[in-house]
Amino acid sequence: MERSSFGTAPGGQPVDVYTLTNRQGMEARVTNYGGILLSLRVPDRDGRFDDVVLGYDSLADYVKESPYFGALVGRYGNRIARGRFTLDGRQYTLATNNGVNHLHGGLKGFDKVVWAAAPFENDQGMGLVLTYVSPDGEEGYPGTLTARVTYTLTADNALVFDYHATTDKPTPVNLTQHSYFNLAGDGRRDILGHVVTFNADRFVPIDATSIPLGMLRDVTGTPFDFRRPTAIGARIQQDDEQLRNGIGYDHSLVLDKGGQPGALTLAAHVLEPSTGRVMEVHTTEPGMQFYSGNFLDGSLKGKRGAVYHHRFGFALETQHLPDSPNQPAFPSTILRPGEEYRSRTLYRFSVSGA
Ligand code: BGC
Repeated sequence: MERSSFGTAPGGQPVDVYTLTNRQGMEARVTNYGGILLSLRVPDRDGRFDDVVLGYDSLADYVKESPYFGALVGRYGNRIARGRFTLDGRQYTLATNNGVNHLHGGLKGFDKVVWAAAPFENDQGMGLVLTYVSPDGEEGYPGTLTARVTYTLTADNALVFDYHATTDKPTPVNLTQHSYFNLAGDGRRDILGHVVTFNADRFVPIDATSIPLGMLRDVTGTPFDFRRPTAIGARIQQDDEQLRNGIGYDHSLVLDKGGQPGALTLAAHVLEPSTGRVMEVHTTEPGMQFYSGNFLDGSLKGKRGAVYHHRFGFALETQHLPDSPNQPAFPSTILRPGEEYRSRTLYRFSVSGA
């Protein structure tokens, strides 16, 4: 594994880049600033390697403005309505950074802090253990949260994220990874031709501020039915209230766990037809936010001069459902002292039609 300097964070801490590689030539570059996955090079059906995630060349660009490119998101990924929730009879107020709502941990979420990094190599592959202790009250959250996230690149072309956390006071926790993928490579065109299959019978309908309405909805007969392989763009222009509310796909899918909460199950299969690249997402989480890059608008200049236009990347963020602290019908996201938060997601890459 290689380590090099990526510069200095706004707080003065030195930041590094770690390059993970495997025998098949797959390469992941990760920085301990925000746990950001900077690049991910995987082969296409002709053995040609390209970078399949969006991002920037320099730390300064990430610090200046990033829509969570590649970032490790916490303490709570996704939205909490009006930045408020009640827990054990006490009301908490979080930072609001998305209109009136709290999004992805607040003004300075886990994507903007410097993590302690410890590289390792073992039988599974090579990787990095990232640790961050979030102080009591940070962004309004109760309790000191000790978070540990392990990134592993395996010999069989999977990138695995293992999340672990403990707390000294009850607090909501919902950690996720916010990479934007474009399997065509280098983020040079839109992602609408990617053919996706999602293992989800239901999704979470939202209001115009992207807050859940409270119930789950059957995907049957809606543009959210991806149970058979379907291009992302096939129905994205349909006149549908939910697509209007999300400005495209920006919704949580409820994963079919086959009655086994906590088991690793296949959530998504993605094929990019022109290159044959395939990505599978496996997770222990009950939900996955499918975001079709609706807010990319060509204003951000990315790696190697790429300009990220509308829908040039998509995210599949495995997580619990949005606004769970205010939604009694959703699986709980509350971690209590003495308990352990554990979650695992893996993205496996292969090719089809080689
Ligand atoms: C959210 C989007 C948001 C994007 C970037 C996604 O996880 O669902 O609404 O615009 O992150 O911030």
